[in-house]
Amino acid sequence: MSEATTTTTVALTVLPEGRTFDAETGTTLLAALRRAGVLNHDCDGGPNCTDACHLFVLEGRKSLSKVQRDENERLDAIVGVGSKSRLACRAVLGDQPVTVELLTFV
Ligand code: FES
Repeated sequence: MSEATTTTTVALTVLPEGRTFDAETGTTLLAALRRAGVLNHDCDGGPNCTDACHLFVLEGRKSLSKVQRDENERLDAIVGVGSKSRLACRAVLGDQPVTVELLTFV
């Protein structure tokens, strides 16, 4: 007998578009936004990254993975960063709904 694989999803709302879709928990915001066709950002978050996946998390911030030093250092170098800033390639979805506002990338 094979085990069924279950996928847990959470609501992800994207502003300013106002679109909400189900995203897999445990994936990055960037992966979820790509899968939903919201953006085509093809950066991999590596050393040559342009930090173009900066966005604001308006709701559900505590449900996301904690900001690590690497992300903090990258955020420090970006103009326009605020207390709601995250890098989509670093923030991993938890089990609570999240609302993000896209900024510089599409
Ligand atoms: S994908 Fe480049 S910093 Fe996130």
